Amino acid sequence: MTKPATILVADDDRAIRTVLGQALSRLGHDVRTTSNAATLWRWVSDGEGDLVITDVVMPDENGLDLVPRIKKLRPELRIIVMSAQNTLLTAVKATERGAFEYLPKPFDLRELVHVVERALTVPHVSTTSAEEAQDAEDQLPLIGRSQAMQEIYRVLARLMGTDLTVMITGESGTGKELVARALHDYGKRRAGTFVAINMAAIPRELIESELFGHEKGSFTGAMARGIGRFEQAQGGTLFLDEIGDMPLEAQTRLLRVLQQGEYTTVGGRTPIRADVRIVAATHRDLRQLIRQGLFREDLFYRLNVVPIRLPPLRERVEDIPALARYFFAQASAEGLPVKSLDIEAMDRLKSYRWPGNVRELENLVRRLAALYSQEVLGVDAIEAELSESSPATPAAEIDSDESLSSAAERHLRDYFAAHKGGLPPSGLYDRVLREIERPLIQLSLSATRGNQLKAAQLLGLNRNTLRKKVRELDIDVARGLK
Ligand SMILES: Nc1ncnc2c1ncn2[C@@H]1O[C@H](COP(=O)(O)OP(=O)(O)OP(=O)(O)O)[C@@H](O)[C@H]1O
Ligand SMILES: [Mg+2]
Repeated sequence: MTKPATILVADDDRAIRTVLGQALSRLGHDVRTTSNAATLWRWVSDGEGDLVITDVVMPDENGLDLVPRIKKLRPELRIIVMSAQNTLLTAVKATERGAFEYLPKPFDLRELVHVVERALTVPHVSTTSAEEAQDAEDQLPLIGRSQAMQEIYRVLARLMGTDLTVMITGESGTGKELVARALHDYGKRRAGTFVAINMAAIPRELIESELFGHEKGSFTGAMARGIGRFEQAQGGTLFLDEIGDMPLEAQTRLLRVLQQGEYTTVGGRTPIRADVRIVAATHRDLRQLIRQGLFREDLFYRLNVVPIRLPPLRERVEDIPALARYFFAQASAEGLPVKSLDIEAMDRLKSYRWPGNVRELENLVRRLAALYSQEVLGVDAIEAELSESSPATPAAEIDSDESLSSAAERHLRDYFAAHKGGLPPSGLYDRVLREIERPLIQLSLSATRGNQLKAAQLLGLNRNTLRKKVRELDIDVARGLK
């Protein structure tokens, strides 16, 4: 139960004023309601109220415009913005101008009561100031006003005030990571950290210690305690990218964590409460992976609470001009010359299939900005660049005569890159060697039909050493028998 407070409510809808007045008075609060922004502003400037709840569209002034003024005058006064205009822009503006929370109408009364309680109790932390945020104003984090994208914005706007688990699907380059970040940056966990982990970039054996952390000595090479992504994301958002590539054992463990709300580190015993919002993404068809036995159905249902499907670019060609202009503007902001496309060139972009979606368009625009000298580019420049860009994603086709060392190098590069400037947990040397040791020993055992003596000879290892390794690496000797 929160301490009784004075709550100022502004909404031109009488029904809403009545309902809020009743619900909040019942909780012991003193509620004052008005139908216009001017009265609200007078109360606030007279120093009244402990909390403001305001509508956006009111007869005299837009509630959103009031937010920065209130924040400037009384920075500690919290403001809850409610609106029937459920656009992403409203949600983004409310957050950027310093509202404590944005509530899309219609809302559940319990939800409102819950938000009010949080607003009255959660201690103040310094967030980005309203002035700082003004710059980003009116610039949505996502470009494109097509019907398909509007639908996505409506869903995002409604998700901003929640902690619901979200599953984003869509072809490569459609903006899955961008959407995951927007959910965090404008959501109620924005004061926490956004932590991304890409399942496809991390060797299978390392995923659990990456996610949950490990204790000192929990496996060979674990010289110190390692912090996992769950711990890093505590209070924030954990983005599980390429979830379809998660190995089954790790899926089982993740499912347990999501069910119980707590986890233990690798080698640890004490359960730690998990306070993270999960956003997952994949470009793969999870239902097909489920049929193939590669993805747990129960985990799928846990993650698929709110599914968001990002449409491929070819299904929203009307967004292409705005996206192209946006990427040209970005290129020029980075010092490249200002460029534009003529009508024919733009039409060609609209008729292209875009297998690499927005990312492919972004890269194309960058090349155009950097490589061509004309200010207005025609269709021939587009044709030349489109035919040069390779049809398939290069990472997908692996060179069949790649050497072992370059394959290892490729994996390690991805692994380091997945840490985005940070470092992987310590003990890397032994962990990587184990990765190579395991298939080496397994295949040697299989080549010698499970004969450990012969395998030891083949490997040039002492028999006892081989036995010890088999035990340590938990190699199934029977599996070697083929
Ligand atoms: N609607 C958009 N507006 C502006 N930029 C976008 C939009 N969608 C995607 N982008 C840009 O396109 C690039 C690819 O987006 P992102 O990395 O989010 O895609 P993805 O779906 O995660 O791709 P992958 O499946 O390959 O990981 C990024 O540079 C991103 O900023
Ligand atoms: Mg991605």
